[in-house]
Amino acid sequence: MEFKKNILGIGAGYVGAPSMVMIAAKCPDYKVTVVDINPQRIAAWNSEELPVYEPGLEELVRQTRGRNLFFSSDVDKEIRENDIIFVCVNTPTKTFGAGAGMAADLQYWEKTARQILENSQSSKIVVEKSTLPIKTAQAMERILSSGKGDITFDVLSNPEFMAEGTAVSDLENPDRVLIGSRETPGGLAARRQLVDIYARWIPPEKIITSNIWSAELSKLVANAFLAQRVSSINSISALCEKADADISEVAYAVGMDSRIGAKFLKAGIGFGGSCFKKDILNLVYLCRFYGLPEVADYWESVVRINEYQQDRFIANVLQSMFNTLAGKKICVLGFAFKADTGDTRESPAIYITRKLLAEHADVVISDPKALANAASDLADEKGTVRYVEDPYEAAAGCHALAVMTDWELYRRLDYRKIYKSMVKPAFIFDGRNILDHRHCFDIGFNVFPIGKPSLTRF
Ligand code: UDX
Ligand code: ADP
Repeated sequence: MEFKKNILGIGAGYVGAPSMVMIAAKCPDYKVTVVDINPQRIAAWNSEELPVYEPGLEELVRQTRGRNLFFSSDVDKEIRENDIIFVCVNTPTKTFGAGAGMAADLQYWEKTARQILENSQSSKIVVEKSTLPIKTAQAMERILSSGKGDITFDVLSNPEFMAEGTAVSDLENPDRVLIGSRETPGGLAARRQLVDIYARWIPPEKIITSNIWSAELSKLVANAFLAQRVSSINSISALCEKADADISEVAYAVGMDSRIGAKFLKAGIGFGGSCFKKDILNLVYLCRFYGLPEVADYWESVVRINEYQQDRFIANVLQSMFNTLAGKKICVLGFAFKADTGDTRESPAIYITRKLLAEHADVVISDPKALANAASDLADEKGTVRYVEDPYEAAAGCHALAVMTDWELYRRLDYRKIYKSMVKPAFIFDGRNILDHRHCFDIGFNVFPIGKPSLTRF
């Protein structure tokens, strides 16, 4: 079959694969190929056991794979054969050299740019989808224009705003799609081509265009604002605990103001995920680089509060359990950084579990989707950690439950049954404020929510 367009996604991760799957689902007349340097990842995408868990994704892959969606590890060949290339490779925070711990590590991305240049035999549109520091498109353009001959590359910035756990619905019905381009004839023509793709399923008023630097910066700023809301409410949760106020009531009252809005005001053990911390540190680095230390410090405090919230949680567990955790069994309920994903990158559960182990607690970790990632995150740990998928089995014989992820299933567990199987006095530390605290207290638990008075018998 002849396809109308040939589209390539480089990087089959949490961002690249779902984005490309959605294009394939919405545009059956386009051929969409996804490549990755990791052959195991590609093999998994071609198997029945997909490497990423996202509600609704498996159905879309089943519908499109082999029809107009293909997964391959032959990156060079696919670069040659495709006209529009989405770059979705990872850009973690640098762990070495200048900007270590702050700036984005662009080695994967630069390698991709060079690979595109080496393998292209015709002009291409190159779309940045990974979150990148501003002006990366410019650097990409420089690399791509260093070749000989009359092949041209138009670089667009099309940041992805989807969130994990809701990727499919976010991609299907996004608040907006943002496309940044150069304002040259070539840039504008490339922009039109990308608009045409999204216009197949997204209303025109939601497809917005801008200059390329604004598009790049908007992504960092959107994530910084979202993370800032989480840190703002978490900072107030500390005050609520001191002042006998209830953070849920405060958040509700504050969020009713239409200027503020009700979303992203859930207090908890802090944000995780691959984006928020990385993007804020990236923003902080850029501000310092451009000589704006006050602005940098302002945004850095969002990350500091996030760390403070996790330290506060640990201190509370330790203090409430009579200042010793040595030899006590703690059941960690949930390891993913949020519900409906198996992703554990930057999950607060990693830090908190390590701290529990440092106190010589025995930890039993339960999670419906993230146990394999949890085991690899904690592979270097010397302490006693067990991984048990069934929450009842995990909790049996434990002194405390620590809720780390807002999985819906944890709301519906039979806490009476769990209480009976635990060592007394039994504790619940609800790091996500998702349980019915009064009900758990009535059963017999000592209950410690976030930003609310604790319910204890001491
Ligand atoms: C985020 C952005 O939402 C998305 O637009 C961007 O493309 C990628 O980064 P993601 O990290 O997948 O998405 O999840 P998100 O729903 O934003 O949650 C991030 C973290 O904040 C999670 O750990 C979540 O538990 C926490 N959170 C969120 C809260 O603690 N409270 C809230 O009210 C909301
Ligand atoms: P994200 O959450 O941003 O999608 P992931 O780590 O889940 O990040 O996915 C990024 C993917 O990009 C990984 O599967 C990685 O193997 C892939 N990748 C990195 N560099 C390259 C490259 N040069 N060519 C192809 N794929 C790459």
